[in-house]
Amino acid sequence: AAVSARGAGGWAFTPVAPNRDDKVTVPRGFRADVLISWGDRVEKGAPRFDVRNQTPEAAAQQFGYNNDYVGVLPHPTKQKRAVLVTNHEYTDENLMFPTGTDADVVKGVAMASHGLSVVEIVRGARKGSWRRAKVANTTLNRRLHVGSDFELVGPAAGDDRLKTSEDATGTTVKGTLNNCSGGRTPWGTILSGEENFNQYFEGTRPAEYEAEYARYGISGGAGRGWSSIEPRFSMQNEPNEPYRFGWVVELDPYDPTSTPRKHTMLGRFKHEGANVTIASNGKAVAYMGDDERGDYIYRFVSAGTFDGSGTRKARKANMQLLLTGTLYVARFAGDGAEDERYDGTGRWLPLCSDTESFVEGMTVADVLLNTRLAADTVSPTRMDRPEDVEVNPVNGRVYAALTNNSNRGTTFPADEANPITTSQVRSAPDAPLTSASGNRNGYVLEMTPGNDNHAGTDFQWSLMLVCGDPEAPETYFADFPKDQVSPISCPDNVAFDGAGNLWISTDGNVLASNDGLFRVPTRGPNRGQVQQFASTPFGAECCGPFISDDQLTVFLAPQHPGETDGATFEDQSSTWPNDEGFPRPSVVTVYRR
Ligand code: FEO
Ligand code: CA
Ligand code: CA
Ligand code: CA
Repeated sequence: AAVSARGAGGWAFTPVAPNRDDKVTVPRGFRADVLISWGDRVEKGAPRFDVRNQTPEAAAQQFGYNNDYVGVLPHPTKQKRAVLVTNHEYTDENLMFPTGTDADVVKGVAMASHGLSVVEIVRGARKGSWRRAKVANTTLNRRLHVGSDFELVGPAAGDDRLKTSEDATGTTVKGTLNNCSGGRTPWGTILSGEENFNQYFEGTRPAEYEAEYARYGISGGAGRGWSSIEPRFSMQNEPNEPYRFGWVVELDPYDPTSTPRKHTMLGRFKHEGANVTIASNGKAVAYMGDDERGDYIYRFVSAGTFDGSGTRKARKANMQLLLTGTLYVARFAGDGAEDERYDGTGRWLPLCSDTESFVEGMTVADVLLNTRLAADTVSPTRMDRPEDVEVNPVNGRVYAALTNNSNRGTTFPADEANPITTSQVRSAPDAPLTSASGNRNGYVLEMTPGNDNHAGTDFQWSLMLVCGDPEAPETYFADFPKDQVSPISCPDNVAFDGAGNLWISTDGNVLASNDGLFRVPTRGPNRGQVQQFASTPFGAECCGPFISDDQLTVFLAPQHPGETDGATFEDQSSTWPNDEGFPRPSVVTVYRR
């Protein structure tokens, strides 16, 4: 790939200091603009946002809640435009609705505020700035939510366990839930991971799926009470409905009439996201994390090869690549502590292809529907909550954010890939560091595929970053001097600029400051120099990030501002971004003044 230190990769800046301010802070010389917020109009006919008179019908046409993944694609016809795709992971009802709002309105709006948004954006007057296109002048704007149609595709589609009273074919699902991170495919579609889908289902686990549902944390109980509006959210009414979530969704933002697909070939787990690269042999390879303490990193390799000719026909063929191939899970081996590095070799263990299961006693559909249980049988490495896993387009290495694991060293024994069992944390901004059990600050893992072949079976790995306050003895920043790095805690989503620098957004900082966005060179003398580029509002996690193809704009997506214990609509710790008395999750653009 082309290496460019122009724009974001070459920006010199003074790092943002850790803070607890209720705003987006960027370095001097940069501007941060709000691009779109919860409630803004997306589809034609959408009413203006009115927080005191919310309706499900309005919410289904407005920008959803808790934006997480951000992808920007070229506009198909207009030079000055681009297409922004975001997802909406979940809702914070206590922050969204004035106390006393009708319970059915709360549920209906919450359901409509999940999902995905496609929004046309236009270059602004300042270099690197963007604004929303006038909704009336758009053709691609679209909202997908709990009421939208999705098609189950791939080898497990149509399995009996995917059938319900509403869908006798086991191929058509209403809605997508808890979409966390995602990725832009080389053929110009967006992948989005259905993550903590377990929390939406009520009732008790059906006896026939007791072990299967338990492995996914589907515990029933109160859920979100949605079954009073849609009976399918009770497992007593629809025992199979939970099998219809937990997939990777593919959306074609260029066709507003297309039905997004749920890819069974990529397995079912708490998908953080999926990122596709093209291997040296032309196969499409998707890297994926299962975000749970002690769960695994996965990889899919396509059967077919990528057609890079750029024609309409090629795109159509490329859109079939995720339907057939082989699904793998990762096992890591350490090479010992003598070298004072957390590193070693790894192996991809095959679970199934589209036609053959490699797990004894399980069919292909069994493996794809209950991927965690299939993986358990081949002894992969239990990781510290694998989040985004993405290939650096400049150096070809794979970077995985392992956000934290409070149970490492207790429930989960340490190993060389998951070595930290005691962490230094901070309870207040000026409090001293204190010890806490487990891995609290997370890692960034770097994997180098054997023979530079992403479709091969082996790789080398090392922990590039052991996150935390640089004053904590356990931290490691790829040998960069610790007195010259920003503290970083709980890496979550990753992105790359044209120079191959890694950009990391954080979620859940345990150093008593707000989450933020960090840039880290991956090569050269500054490898490991973590610098904080932005901090997000109080109570928010950062989300995004995305570096525009022209390197002029950094997109970030502050999610759940004001999410603190005991907060209510009337009593909130954040009113970002508009001082309206309540916060609005929003997408922000950052660019040089
Ligand atoms: Fe929704 Fe794994 O973060
Ligand atoms: Ca070692
Ligand atoms: Ca995430
Ligand atoms: Ca997160």
